Amino acid sequence: MANVNAGILGTGRAYPEGVLTNADLEQMVDTSDEWITSRTGIKQRHKAAEGEYTSMFAVRAARQAIERAKIDPLEIDLLICATVTPDQVLPSTGCIIQTELGAHKAAAFDLAAACSGFLFGLTLANTMIKTGQARYALVIGAELLTRYVDYTDRSTCVIFGDGAGAAVLGPVEGERGILATRIRSDGRYTEQLFAPGGGTRMGLTPESFAAGAHFYKMRGNELFKVAVRSMADVAREVLEETGYKADDVKLFIPHQANQRITDAVANNLKVDSQIVYSNIAMHGNTSSASIPIALDECVEMGRVHDGDLVLLASFGGGVTWGAVLMRW
Ligand code: ACO
Repeated sequence: MANVNAGILGTGRAYPEGVLTNADLEQMVDTSDEWITSRTGIKQRHKAAEGEYTSMFAVRAARQAIERAKIDPLEIDLLICATVTPDQVLPSTGCIIQTELGAHKAAAFDLAAACSGFLFGLTLANTMIKTGQARYALVIGAELLTRYVDYTDRSTCVIFGDGAGAAVLGPVEGERGILATRIRSDGRYTEQLFAPGGGTRMGLTPESFAAGAHFYKMRGNELFKVAVRSMADVAREVLEETGYKADDVKLFIPHQANQRITDAVANNLKVDSQIVYSNIAMHGNTSSASIPIALDECVEMGRVHDGDLVLLASFGGGVTWGAVLMRW
């Protein structure tokens, strides 16, 4: 399997039908459509109904990706579900998805790297395919973040949404596929975005639940600066490693955290705003699902063509960040 590149063969996406608009939020907390739009670019986000859970959307997105890749679920050797909002503590959501898909020959597991989870997953899948340990890999980003949002905290509840995106990777020939990857983390910034309750450290008790310890807490302003710098740095690194320039990139999909973060990263990298994809207005921040949802939308809209250089970059809680450069 020498000199094999891993490329994306099919993509898919799914999200709940339920939608929470800025007008809805105006009725719930002290906020306004004007504030949310100007500070984040978000107009609406999808929100799962009671009875819906993460793997439901992951399976729908995965089925679409598998169909488009024209493979049989039994050909999948590796199934990674990037999520920080799993169906349950045990087993992994990856194993639940595996069963639903009938991908019984895959090694399935969850990967927790918050908003960078999908790029961490792509990086692992790329390595496994390049070294011949897997032929086909399914990488999913799936989150129901609205379950961990405190709808009395206006600084977080306007940001997050639910959804799932998926990609099937397999060997590709020639100069196509993933050309370079970078993944990083720095646990010293943990408290910029975290949920202290619900794990083994602070178990879910009536007291901790009442105190909202399981809700996300975020120092958005501090994260903002680290996010811009980190995403731009790794994006530059994958370009430098492969000898390409920002001008060569035909499509740039950053993690959809905030329109101002997207604009600042694009500005820092000096990429033409025309090649930067944004869907934050419709989805909000869906963490690990944001990049695969965006990628699938770009495929559907014909925004990516054979041979195009595609740059992905992410930043999330942990903190984690990464970049992937590929030739479509
Ligand atoms: N409506 C109205 N006012 C608000 C709202 C709201 N929804 N939220 C905050 N404010 C107020 C604040 O209280 C503050 O008021 P004050 O000046 O009177 O104290 C003022 O607006 C400014 O608050 P900031 O937090 O400084 O606002 P900022 O411009 O930084 O925007 C935001 C906040 C949108 C959260 C931004 O910082 C951001 O997007 N940060 C990055 C988030 C991110 O990337 N997270 C990591 C990835 S997510 C993951 O890993 C799951």
